[in-house]
Amino acid sequence: MKSLKIVALGAALALSLAACAGDGAGGGSGESSGAPAADDGTKTVGVAMPTQTSERWIADGKAVEDGLKAAGYEVNLQFGNDDIPTQQQQIDQMITKGVDLLIVASIDGTALANQLDAAAEKGIPVIAYDRLINGTKNVDFYVTFDNYNVGVQQATSLLVGLGLLAEDGKAAGAESGPFNVELFAGSLDDNNAHFFWKGAIDTLKPFMDDGKIVVKSGQTDIEKAATLRWLQETAQKRMEDLLTSTYSDGSKLDGVLSPYDGISRGIITALQNAGYGPGQDAGLPIVTGQDAEIASVKLINDGVQFSTIFKDTRKLATQAVTAAESYLKGEEPEANDTETYDNKVKIVPSYLLESDIVYANNIKSLLVDSGYWTDAQVASGQA
Ligand code: BGC
Repeated sequence: MKSLKIVALGAALALSLAACAGDGAGGGSGESSGAPAADDGTKTVGVAMPTQTSERWIADGKAVEDGLKAAGYEVNLQFGNDDIPTQQQQIDQMITKGVDLLIVASIDGTALANQLDAAAEKGIPVIAYDRLINGTKNVDFYVTFDNYNVGVQQATSLLVGLGLLAEDGKAAGAESGPFNVELFAGSLDDNNAHFFWKGAIDTLKPFMDDGKIVVKSGQTDIEKAATLRWLQETAQKRMEDLLTSTYSDGSKLDGVLSPYDGISRGIITALQNAGYGPGQDAGLPIVTGQDAEIASVKLINDGVQFSTIFKDTRKLATQAVTAAESYLKGEEPEANDTETYDNKVKIVPSYLLESDIVYANNIKSLLVDSGYWTDAQVASGQA
Protein backbone atom coordinates (compact mmCIF):
# COMPACT_ATOMS: atom_id res chain seq x y z
CA MET A 1 0.00 0.00 0.00
CA LYS A 2 2.67 2.38 1.12
CA SER A 3 4.99 1.64 -1.78
CA LEU A 4 2.13 2.00 -4.26
CA LYS A 5 1.47 5.47 -2.91
CA ILE A 6 5.12 6.38 -3.26
CA VAL A 7 5.16 5.18 -6.85
CA ALA A 8 2.04 7.23 -7.57
CA LEU A 9 3.58 10.23 -5.90
CA GLY A 10 6.78 9.89 -7.86
CA ALA A 11 4.82 9.60 -11.09
CA ALA A 12 2.77 12.66 -10.24
CA LEU A 13 5.88 14.63 -9.43
CA ALA A 14 7.61 13.63 -12.66
CA LEU A 15 4.49 14.49 -14.60
CA SER A 16 4.02 17.83 -12.97
CA LEU A 17 7.65 18.72 -13.69
CA ALA A 18 7.29 17.59 -17.28
CA ALA A 19 4.12 19.60 -17.66
CA CYS A 20 5.94 22.67 -16.39
CA ALA A 21 4.25 23.15 -13.05
CA GLY A 22 4.60 26.90 -13.06
CA ASP A 23 1.05 27.56 -11.97
CA GLY A 24 1.61 27.90 -8.26
CA ALA A 25 0.48 30.70 -6.01
CA GLY A 26 2.68 33.14 -7.85
CA GLY A 27 1.21 32.73 -11.32
CA GLY A 28 -1.88 32.49 -13.44
CA SER A 29 -3.64 35.70 -12.52
CA GLY A 30 -4.88 36.32 -16.03
CA GLU A 31 -4.92 33.93 -18.95
CA SER A 32 -5.14 30.28 -18.10
CA SER A 33 -1.82 28.53 -18.52
CA GLY A 34 -2.45 25.38 -16.54
CA ALA A 35 -1.16 21.93 -17.28
CA PRO A 36 -3.24 19.99 -19.79
CA ALA A 37 -5.13 17.08 -18.39
CA ALA A 38 -2.77 14.14 -18.21
CA ASP A 39 -3.42 11.39 -20.77
CA ASP A 40 -1.79 8.51 -18.88
CA GLY A 41 -4.69 8.01 -16.50
CA THR A 42 -3.45 10.48 -13.88
CA LYS A 43 -6.41 12.57 -12.87
CA THR A 44 -6.32 16.34 -13.00
CA VAL A 45 -8.11 18.74 -10.68
CA GLY A 46 -8.91 22.31 -11.71
CA VAL A 47 -8.64 24.74 -8.79
CA ALA A 48 -10.12 28.22 -9.30
CA MET A 49 -9.28 30.79 -6.62
CA PRO A 50 -10.68 34.34 -6.60
CA THR A 51 -7.72 36.65 -6.12
CA GLN A 52 -4.15 37.09 -5.02
CA THR A 53 -4.75 40.45 -3.38
CA SER A 54 -5.45 38.72 -0.08
CA GLU A 55 -2.90 36.33 1.34
CA ARG A 56 -5.50 33.86 2.53
CA TRP A 57 -6.42 32.90 -1.04
CA ILE A 58 -2.79 32.47 -2.02
CA ALA A 59 -2.33 30.20 1.00
CA ASP A 60 -5.55 28.32 0.19
CA GLY A 61 -4.45 27.79 -3.42
CA LYS A 62 -1.06 26.52 -2.40
CA ALA A 63 -2.40 24.24 0.33
CA VAL A 64 -5.00 22.69 -2.00
CA GLU A 65 -2.43 22.26 -4.75
CA ASP A 66 0.10 20.66 -2.40
CA GLY A 67 -2.51 18.33 -0.91
CA LEU A 68 -3.76 17.19 -4.30
CA LYS A 69 -0.27 16.63 -5.63
CA ALA A 70 0.66 14.63 -2.54
CA ALA A 71 -2.42 12.49 -3.19
CA GLY A 72 -1.17 11.80 -6.71
CA TYR A 73 -3.21 14.21 -8.82
CA GLU A 74 -2.27 16.79 -11.41
CA VAL A 75 -3.39 20.31 -10.55
CA ASN A 76 -4.41 23.25 -12.71
CA LEU A 77 -4.49 26.20 -10.28
CA GLN A 78 -5.72 29.62 -11.43
CA PHE A 79 -6.41 32.91 -9.67
CA GLY A 80 -9.23 35.07 -11.07
CA ASN A 81 -7.86 38.53 -10.30
CA ASP A 82 -11.20 39.44 -8.64
CA ASP A 83 -12.59 39.74 -12.17
CA ILE A 84 -15.70 37.69 -12.97
CA PRO A 85 -15.08 37.17 -16.74
CA THR A 86 -11.51 36.08 -15.98
CA GLN A 87 -12.71 33.43 -13.57
CA GLN A 88 -15.43 32.26 -15.96
CA GLN A 89 -12.86 31.93 -18.73
CA GLN A 90 -10.42 30.07 -16.49
CA ILE A 91 -13.06 27.52 -15.55
CA ASP A 92 -14.20 27.20 -19.18
CA GLN A 93 -10.63 26.39 -20.14
CA MET A 94 -10.22 23.86 -17.35
CA ILE A 95 -13.31 22.07 -18.62
CA THR A 96 -12.08 22.21 -22.23
CA LYS A 97 -8.75 20.77 -21.17
CA GLY A 98 -10.60 17.87 -19.60
CA VAL A 99 -10.11 18.20 -15.83
CA ASP A 100 -11.67 15.41 -13.79
CA LEU A 101 -12.94 17.58 -10.96
CA LEU A 102 -13.30 21.26 -10.12
CA ILE A 103 -12.66 23.05 -6.82
CA VAL A 104 -13.98 26.60 -7.03
CA ALA A 105 -13.79 29.58 -4.69
CA SER A 106 -16.02 31.95 -6.61
CA ILE A 107 -15.70 35.70 -7.01
CA ASP A 108 -19.42 36.19 -7.60
CA GLY A 109 -21.37 33.21 -6.31
CA THR A 110 -24.15 33.72 -8.84
CA ALA A 111 -22.04 34.08 -11.99
CA LEU A 112 -20.88 30.52 -12.67
CA ALA A 113 -24.07 28.68 -13.64
CA ASN A 114 -23.03 28.33 -17.32
CA GLN A 115 -19.63 26.94 -16.39
CA LEU A 116 -21.19 24.49 -13.97
CA ASP A 117 -23.73 23.37 -16.58
CA ALA A 118 -20.83 22.57 -18.91
CA ALA A 119 -19.05 20.69 -16.13
CA ALA A 120 -22.18 18.65 -15.40
CA GLU A 121 -22.54 17.71 -19.07
CA LYS A 122 -19.08 16.21 -18.93
CA GLY A 123 -19.72 14.53 -15.59
CA ILE A 124 -17.17 16.70 -13.75
CA PRO A 125 -17.97 16.96 -10.03
CA VAL A 126 -17.78 20.47 -8.55
CA ILE A 127 -16.73 21.30 -5.00
CA ALA A 128 -17.47 24.86 -3.86
CA TYR A 129 -14.54 26.04 -1.77
CA ASP A 130 -15.28 28.38 1.15
CA ARG A 131 -17.85 30.39 -0.86
CA LEU A 132 -21.11 28.78 -1.95
CA ILE A 133 -22.04 28.86 -5.65
CA ASN A 134 -25.68 29.89 -5.97
CA GLY A 135 -28.47 29.31 -8.46
CA THR A 136 -27.36 25.97 -9.92
CA LYS A 137 -28.04 22.33 -9.21
CA ASN A 138 -24.57 21.48 -10.50
CA VAL A 139 -22.60 22.16 -7.37
CA ASP A 140 -22.04 18.84 -5.66
CA PHE A 141 -20.37 19.62 -2.36
CA TYR A 142 -19.31 22.55 -0.22
CA VAL A 143 -16.35 22.83 2.15
CA THR A 144 -16.34 25.89 4.37
CA PHE A 145 -16.37 27.20 7.92
CA ASP A 146 -19.43 27.77 10.05
CA ASN A 147 -19.94 31.18 8.49
CA TYR A 148 -22.85 32.28 10.70
CA ASN A 149 -20.69 31.55 13.72
CA VAL A 150 -17.82 33.59 12.23
CA GLY A 151 -20.21 36.58 12.35
CA VAL A 152 -21.20 35.74 15.91
CA GLN A 153 -17.51 35.64 16.84
CA GLN A 154 -16.81 38.97 15.15
CA ALA A 155 -19.60 40.69 17.06
CA THR A 156 -18.67 38.91 20.29
CA SER A 157 -15.12 40.22 20.06
CA LEU A 158 -16.45 43.73 19.47
CA LEU A 159 -18.62 43.45 22.59
CA VAL A 160 -15.67 42.11 24.59
CA GLY A 161 -13.50 44.98 23.37
CA LEU A 162 -16.11 47.51 24.41
CA GLY A 163 -16.46 45.86 27.81
CA LEU A 164 -20.13 44.96 27.25
CA LEU A 165 -19.25 41.27 27.53
CA ALA A 166 -16.72 39.74 29.86
CA GLU A 167 -13.47 38.31 28.44
CA ASP A 168 -15.03 34.87 28.14
CA GLY A 169 -17.54 36.40 25.73
CA LYS A 170 -20.46 35.15 27.83
CA ALA A 171 -21.04 37.04 31.08
CA ALA A 172 -22.03 40.70 31.15
CA GLY A 173 -19.07 43.03 31.08
CA ALA A 174 -18.23 45.93 33.36
CA GLU A 175 -19.43 48.61 30.91
CA SER A 176 -22.94 49.60 29.94
CA GLY A 177 -22.38 52.17 27.20
CA PRO A 178 -23.85 53.76 25.22
CA PHE A 179 -21.12 53.21 22.64
CA ASN A 180 -21.02 54.60 19.12
CA VAL A 181 -20.39 51.80 16.66
CA GLU A 182 -20.27 51.64 12.86
CA LEU A 183 -20.91 48.48 10.82
CA PHE A 184 -19.10 47.17 7.74
CA ALA A 185 -20.10 44.18 5.63
CA GLY A 186 -18.33 42.24 2.86
CA SER A 187 -19.12 41.93 -0.83
CA LEU A 188 -22.81 41.33 -1.46
CA ASP A 189 -22.13 38.89 -4.32
CA ASP A 190 -20.26 36.64 -1.87
CA ASN A 191 -22.75 34.41 -0.08
CA ASN A 192 -20.53 34.39 3.00
CA ALA A 193 -20.93 38.13 3.51
CA HIS A 194 -24.60 37.58 4.32
CA PHE A 195 -23.88 34.81 6.83
CA PHE A 196 -21.21 36.88 8.60
CA TRP A 197 -23.58 39.84 8.75
CA LYS A 198 -26.51 37.82 10.07
CA GLY A 199 -24.41 36.19 12.79
CA ALA A 200 -23.01 39.56 13.81
CA ILE A 201 -26.29 41.48 13.77
CA ASP A 202 -28.15 38.76 15.71
CA THR A 203 -25.43 39.09 18.35
CA LEU A 204 -25.42 42.90 18.44
CA LYS A 205 -29.19 43.37 18.22
CA PRO A 206 -30.02 43.02 21.94
CA PHE A 207 -27.36 45.64 22.72
CA MET A 208 -28.72 47.94 20.00
CA ASP A 209 -32.28 47.43 21.24
CA ASP A 210 -31.44 48.46 24.79
CA GLY A 211 -29.35 51.44 23.68
CA LYS A 212 -25.93 50.16 24.76
CA ILE A 213 -24.81 50.29 21.16
CA VAL A 214 -25.72 53.16 18.88
CA VAL A 215 -25.04 53.10 15.14
CA LYS A 216 -24.82 56.86 14.93
CA SER A 217 -24.80 57.02 11.12
CA GLY A 218 -28.04 55.05 11.03
CA GLN A 219 -26.45 52.77 8.39
CA THR A 220 -27.68 49.44 9.66
CA ASP A 221 -28.64 47.78 6.35
CA ILE A 222 -26.21 45.37 4.75
CA GLU A 223 -26.59 47.23 1.43
CA LYS A 224 -25.29 50.42 3.05
CA ALA A 225 -22.56 48.62 4.98
CA ALA A 226 -21.33 46.45 2.08
CA THR A 227 -17.81 46.62 0.59
CA LEU A 228 -17.70 45.50 -3.05
CA ARG A 229 -14.96 42.85 -3.58
CA TRP A 230 -13.93 43.31 0.07
CA LEU A 231 -11.52 46.08 -0.98
CA GLN A 232 -9.44 47.93 1.59
CA GLU A 233 -9.55 51.24 -0.32
CA THR A 234 -13.34 51.07 -0.59
CA ALA A 235 -13.63 50.55 3.16
CA GLN A 236 -11.20 53.37 3.87
CA LYS A 237 -13.27 55.73 1.73
CA ARG A 238 -16.51 54.75 3.46
CA MET A 239 -14.92 55.22 6.89
CA GLU A 240 -13.66 58.67 5.85
CA ASP A 241 -17.15 59.58 4.66
CA LEU A 242 -18.69 58.34 7.91
CA LEU A 243 -16.25 60.37 9.99
CA THR A 244 -17.13 63.49 8.01
CA SER A 245 -20.89 62.94 7.91
CA THR A 246 -21.41 61.67 11.44
CA TYR A 247 -18.48 62.34 13.75
CA SER A 248 -17.29 65.82 12.81
CA ASP A 249 -19.41 67.22 15.67
CA GLY A 250 -16.74 65.98 18.09
CA SER A 251 -18.56 62.80 19.10
CA LYS A 252 -16.36 59.76 19.51
CA LEU A 253 -16.49 56.50 17.60
CA ASP A 254 -15.98 53.58 19.99
CA GLY A 255 -16.10 50.49 17.81
CA VAL A 256 -16.25 49.22 14.24
CA LEU A 257 -17.57 45.84 13.15
CA SER A 258 -15.28 44.80 10.31
CA PRO A 259 -15.73 41.46 8.51
CA TYR A 260 -12.23 41.06 7.02
CA ASP A 261 -8.69 42.16 7.93
CA GLY A 262 -8.11 44.09 4.68
CA ILE A 263 -11.26 46.10 5.38
CA SER A 264 -10.08 46.59 8.98
CA ARG A 265 -6.80 48.06 7.80
CA GLY A 266 -8.65 50.49 5.50
CA ILE A 267 -10.82 51.53 8.44
CA ILE A 268 -7.81 51.96 10.74
CA THR A 269 -5.98 54.08 8.16
CA ALA A 270 -9.00 56.38 7.83
CA LEU A 271 -9.24 56.68 11.62
CA GLN A 272 -5.54 57.37 12.06
CA ASN A 273 -5.64 60.01 9.31
CA ALA A 274 -8.51 61.64 11.17
CA GLY A 275 -6.50 61.85 14.38
CA TYR A 276 -7.65 58.79 16.28
CA GLY A 277 -4.70 57.64 18.40
CA PRO A 278 -2.61 54.51 17.99
CA GLY A 279 -3.58 52.63 21.18
CA GLN A 280 -7.08 51.95 22.46
CA ASP A 281 -6.47 54.15 25.50
CA ALA A 282 -5.44 56.96 23.21
CA GLY A 283 -8.76 56.64 21.48
CA LEU A 284 -8.57 54.22 18.56
CA PRO A 285 -11.92 52.39 18.41
CA ILE A 286 -12.26 48.63 18.83
CA VAL A 287 -11.90 47.20 15.30
CA THR A 288 -12.62 43.54 14.51
CA GLY A 289 -11.51 41.48 11.48
CA GLN A 290 -11.21 38.08 9.85
CA ASP A 291 -8.56 35.76 8.39
CA ALA A 292 -5.62 36.40 10.74
CA GLU A 293 -3.66 38.07 7.94
CA ILE A 294 -0.14 38.72 9.11
CA ALA A 295 -0.34 42.52 8.77
CA SER A 296 -3.41 42.51 11.01
CA VAL A 297 -1.96 40.01 13.48
CA LYS A 298 0.91 42.46 13.96
CA LEU A 299 -1.58 45.30 14.46
CA ILE A 300 -3.37 43.20 17.08
CA ASN A 301 -0.06 42.40 18.76
CA ASP A 302 0.71 46.14 18.76
CA GLY A 303 -2.72 47.03 20.26
CA VAL A 304 -3.99 48.81 17.12
CA GLN A 305 -6.57 46.33 15.72
CA PHE A 306 -8.51 44.56 18.49
CA SER A 307 -9.34 41.13 17.10
CA THR A 308 -9.57 38.87 14.08
CA ILE A 309 -11.05 35.46 13.32
CA PHE A 310 -8.69 32.57 12.64
CA LYS A 311 -9.94 30.18 9.99
CA ASP A 312 -7.26 27.57 9.53
CA THR A 313 -6.99 27.40 5.74
CA ARG A 314 -4.76 24.33 6.04
CA LYS A 315 -7.72 22.41 7.50
CA LEU A 316 -10.06 23.69 4.80
CA ALA A 317 -7.64 22.62 2.08
CA THR A 318 -7.39 19.18 3.68
CA GLN A 319 -11.19 18.85 3.63
CA ALA A 320 -11.31 19.89 -0.02
CA VAL A 321 -8.68 17.30 -0.92
CA THR A 322 -10.50 14.60 1.07
CA ALA A 323 -13.77 15.39 -0.72
CA ALA A 324 -11.99 15.43 -4.09
CA GLU A 325 -10.43 12.04 -3.40
CA SER A 326 -13.85 10.60 -2.59
CA TYR A 327 -15.34 11.77 -5.87
CA LEU A 328 -12.34 10.63 -7.88
CA LYS A 329 -12.71 7.18 -6.34
CA GLY A 330 -16.36 7.18 -7.29
CA GLU A 331 -17.60 7.71 -3.74
CA GLU A 332 -19.63 10.44 -2.04
CA PRO A 333 -17.72 12.71 0.36
CA GLU A 334 -18.78 12.82 3.98
CA ALA A 335 -20.89 15.86 4.91
CA ASN A 336 -21.44 17.16 8.44
CA ASP A 337 -24.20 19.62 7.49
CA THR A 338 -27.04 18.93 5.10
CA GLU A 339 -29.39 21.75 6.13
CA THR A 340 -27.74 25.14 6.18
CA TYR A 341 -26.51 25.93 2.69
CA ASP A 342 -29.45 26.40 0.36
CA ASN A 343 -28.18 27.81 -2.93
CA LYS A 344 -31.74 28.66 -4.09
CA VAL A 345 -31.91 25.50 -6.19
CA LYS A 346 -30.88 22.87 -3.70
CA ILE A 347 -29.37 22.35 -0.29
CA VAL A 348 -25.71 21.67 -0.90
CA PRO A 349 -24.20 18.98 1.35
CA SER A 350 -21.42 20.65 3.28
CA TYR A 351 -18.48 20.06 5.54
CA LEU A 352 -18.15 22.90 8.05
CA LEU A 353 -15.08 23.73 10.12
CA GLU A 354 -14.84 25.79 13.29
CA SER A 355 -13.06 29.11 13.69
CA ASP A 356 -11.51 30.95 16.66
CA ILE A 357 -11.39 34.55 17.88
CA VAL A 358 -7.85 35.93 18.02
CA TYR A 359 -7.01 38.58 20.64
CA ALA A 360 -3.56 39.90 21.52
CA ASN A 361 -3.37 37.43 24.40
CA ASN A 362 -3.90 34.26 22.35
CA ILE A 363 -1.84 35.01 19.23
CA LYS A 364 0.81 32.67 20.54
CA SER A 365 -1.42 29.74 21.44
CA LEU A 366 -3.62 29.92 18.31
CA LEU A 367 -1.30 31.13 15.58
CA VAL A 368 2.30 30.62 16.59
CA ASP A 369 2.08 27.29 18.41
CA SER A 370 0.05 25.81 15.53
CA GLY A 371 2.74 26.88 13.04
CA TYR A 372 0.43 29.25 11.13
CA TRP A 373 2.74 32.22 11.72
CA THR A 374 6.13 32.47 13.40
CA ASP A 375 7.04 34.91 16.20
CA ALA A 376 9.26 36.74 13.72
CA GLN A 377 6.38 37.13 11.24
CA VAL A 378 4.10 38.44 13.98
CA ALA A 379 6.75 40.95 14.99
CA SER A 380 7.43 42.14 11.44
CA GLY A 381 3.92 41.88 10.01
CA GLN A 382 5.36 40.24 6.90
CA ALA A 383 4.68 36.74 5.63
C1 BGC B 1 -14.05 34.48 3.08
C2 BGC B 1 -13.32 35.29 4.11
C3 BGC B 1 -12.56 36.41 3.44
C4 BGC B 1 -13.40 37.16 2.45
C5 BGC B 1 -12.59 38.15 1.68
C6 BGC B 1 -14.89 35.37 2.23
O1 BGC B 1 -15.60 34.63 1.30
O2 BGC B 1 -14.84 33.49 3.72
O3 BGC B 1 -12.45 34.46 4.82
O4 BGC B 1 -12.16 37.31 4.43
O5 BGC B 1 -14.02 36.28 1.56
O6 BGC B 1 -11.59 37.52 0.93
